[in-house]
Amino acid sequence: MGNSQATTIATTPFADQRPGTSGLRKKVEVFQQRHYLENFIQSIFDSLEGYQGATLVVGGDGRYYNREAIQKILKIAAANGVGRIVIGQSGILSTPAASALIRGLTAFGGIVLSASHNPGGPHGDFGVKYDVANGGPAPEKVTDAIYARTREITSFRIVEAPDVDIDRLGETRVGDMRVDVVDSVGNYKALMQTLFDFDRIRDAFRSGFTFTFDAMSAVTGPYARALFEEELGARPGSVINATPLPDFGGHHPDPNLVHARHLYDLAMSDAAPDLCAASDGDGDRNLIIGRGRFVTPSDSLAILAANATIAPGYRKGIAGLARSMPTSGAADRVAERLGVPLYETPTGWKYFGNLLDAGLVTICGEESAGAGSDHLREKDGLWAVLFWLDILAARKESVDAIVRQHWTTYGRNYYSRHDYEEVASDGAHALIDALRQRLPTLKGQYLGGLEVATADDFAYHDPVDGSDSQHQGLRVIFADGSRIVYRLSGTGTAGATLRVYIERYEPDPARQHMATEAALANLVSLSREIAAIERYTQRAAPSVIT
Ligand code: G6P
Ligand code: ZN
Repeated sequence: MGNSQATTIATTPFADQRPGTSGLRKKVEVFQQRHYLENFIQSIFDSLEGYQGATLVVGGDGRYYNREAIQKILKIAAANGVGRIVIGQSGILSTPAASALIRGLTAFGGIVLSASHNPGGPHGDFGVKYDVANGGPAPEKVTDAIYARTREITSFRIVEAPDVDIDRLGETRVGDMRVDVVDSVGNYKALMQTLFDFDRIRDAFRSGFTFTFDAMSAVTGPYARALFEEELGARPGSVINATPLPDFGGHHPDPNLVHARHLYDLAMSDAAPDLCAASDGDGDRNLIIGRGRFVTPSDSLAILAANATIAPGYRKGIAGLARSMPTSGAADRVAERLGVPLYETPTGWKYFGNLLDAGLVTICGEESAGAGSDHLREKDGLWAVLFWLDILAARKESVDAIVRQHWTTYGRNYYSRHDYEEVASDGAHALIDALRQRLPTLKGQYLGGLEVATADDFAYHDPVDGSDSQHQGLRVIFADGSRIVYRLSGTGTAGATLRVYIERYEPDPARQHMATEAALANLVSLSREIAAIERYTQRAAPSVIT
């Protein structure tokens, strides 16, 4: 299928367009290089088959360069023979809403513009991710093909056409391609209504339940206003920082205890609402803090799974659970009790896609503040918040009481992640290589008084498509079930980030109420010794602890 107004422009490859954990993420300045975005988008089309005449969804988290990128993508898509593009109004689609829209429209796929929780603005980050027809991130074989293509590309196709007014709802055309600008929220809201008991949540708000949701000046603002305030009746003003800004107000839109500290402080204060929550730049992460109680993402996953049948969408029960390897084993204990399988996957939401498609799991989650279910193929921040609201409305207990009761029943997994950010890449890789070499010798040794039960380099065999993924993190597992995991982040844009995940299981209710730092102190110093972190990174302590 051709396009009358299309022209072919000569280009040369860039060497650095390998998609990482979640698509291609680079500084805005990198994307602004002549033909950089064009090359990558054309490489996507060059490595796909069957998109001609089909529908694609396009949208992003509203960060700086979102609008410019969308205009270019529309023109390149038209030149390549795409039939129709559906865009969120003003170019806004949260990552989960894009996934829902791809599925809802049975589209061919989608292009999501985001660098998730990384800062935005002219000197911040930008990103491009390709989603496939199930609404999830493209699997490795697709991203590998795209990368291979970026190394060889010699030209791209583009139509010369005026920019589309993406703020105005309705249908228009670019060349021969149809473009629909749609409401960013409606389809997603309708999906949420099928999963949760909105009447019950409405009743809770009416009875005085108090709530603060921080959209962090990022994409969830319009969604959160529409859902929590307009639909469910949370007091106006419950949603704060609700307007998406291209630079997120200069903040780092990552809902963790560092970047959402103010929310933590509020939740620990006398003025604490019943629930504080937040989401990240593109709306797929979540932070849950009850009055006086922070819920770790690993615990949150386990608690949602244990209470799932409360929500109408999960009333029939769950088929199985999945968590990324570094996520704590709290969910494993729930799966065991429910008598359903638990799948342990590498870090990265894309690994859940096959399990969800095959119906092997219903709920999945990661320590990196992500949880989601088979309702779409991304993690989903507002879904997690609505799930908690529904459970709180049904159980009429505090977050703290629910968490404590969960630990009494299942035991507590003390858990902490230590990040050594922006360390020199050579040193970080040398650390991993050296530790990998030593792994076979560690088994049976006593380290810090603890016996090493196993030490390995995590590999994953996908039970659905049979693919194998190697080198997904180094694990040192002790005889008492404690664990230290080392891996390098796949999402950073500067230097390397070493992540160290530290976990200890405590079945005894009398010992489940220590401060996490105290409970893990021994393992933390061990984590630094085992890998000689200071020697390789020149850092005596992590830059972020979550
Ligand atoms: C993104 C991905 C997640 C992943 C997280 C951390 O949010 O969608 O699946 O867990 O990044 O990845 P990293 O490689 O930086 O630890
Ligand atoms: Zn995100």
